[in-house]
Amino acid sequence: MKIYAAPMEGVTGYVYRNAHRHYFQGIDKYYTPFLTPKKGKGWTSREKNDIAPEHNRNMTVVPQILANQAEDFVRMAEKLADCGYEEINLNLGCPSGTVVSKGKGCGFLADREKLLRFFEEVFDKVTVRVSVKTRLGLDSPEEIIPLMEIYNQFPLSEVIIHARIHKDFYKRPVNREAFRKGFLLCRHPVCYNGDIFAEKDFQKFQEEFPGVDRVMLGRGLIANPQLAEMLIQGGQPEKQRWKAFHDEVCLGYEEIMSGERNVLFKMKELWAYMLPMFEDGEKIGKKIKKAGRLQEYKELVDTLFREKNFK
Ligand SMILES: Cc1cc2nc3c(=O)[nH]c(=O)nc-3n(C[C@H](O)[C@H](O)[C@H](O)COP(=O)(O)O)c2cc1C
Repeated sequence: MKIYAAPMEGVTGYVYRNAHRHYFQGIDKYYTPFLTPKKGKGWTSREKNDIAPEHNRNMTVVPQILANQAEDFVRMAEKLADCGYEEINLNLGCPSGTVVSKGKGCGFLADREKLLRFFEEVFDKVTVRVSVKTRLGLDSPEEIIPLMEIYNQFPLSEVIIHARIHKDFYKRPVNREAFRKGFLLCRHPVCYNGDIFAEKDFQKFQEEFPGVDRVMLGRGLIANPQLAEMLIQGGQPEKQRWKAFHDEVCLGYEEIMSGERNVLFKMKELWAYMLPMFEDGEKIGKKIKKAGRLQEYKELVDTLFREKNFK
């Protein structure tokens, strides 16, 4: 089984990926949060740092692009190939209103004619492997059938299916039966994504889909950074490692961000996912969320790790 770390904008940047790689095993590929080509402009400094080869050593990283114009995609993909990346992923899943209204992310799924022409042009020009991360459809999970007919016409290296449609965002239940339809039709390797938070979810998925040999973990991995490792080799969460990982992420942000507030914002975002892993962590969790100074924050986190156990 291959396990991939999902792209999560604002969360899984290079500071996070490096610390994760340092302390935890089990991830075969890390996907970057989406990069957006801008006409006549280069990378933003966030994007430049995120894909800089020196920030992505000793792990397999797949940059993700959000685009609906083939020339934009190819231009950025080739620049990334020049930096040494061997696979580029196309985002066909982002549900955000501003993205969808521009016909990008899962908004691109609505115009299959355009999607077909996009791939024709991309595969005519591109020299690097291309994979997609797609939802089942924009409005209906049945769209996965005609979408797969398109994906099958091109030499995609992999199709990652997030088993939801646009209006499901991240909350509504995943649709495994529609995923099955896509999986059975697809001639490329298929990776499953959606709602694997714990070992029991993974086991159930494997029972339902013994033929799928790769899964992508998003929120479950942020909540439990040891999840991939536990799915492969079992074991229990280890506080010491989590703490060391946490400290490295925090220090990484302190080094690159100006001002405590920005660092605190990033760290608190992580706690929104991680806190529910701790038994009886609500009270101290509230204090962590309210902390206004980094020193206070760190003391609270020390207390949490010292006094609270995993559920
Ligand atoms: C905060 C957040 C940011 C995300 N950013 C991206 C992104 O940049 N690119 C992308 O393809 N998906 C993005 N996703 C979707 C995740 O990659 C993943 O498909 C989704 O969370 C479902 O998987 P999960 O149930 O394992 O979390 C994001 C999701 C969240 C919650």
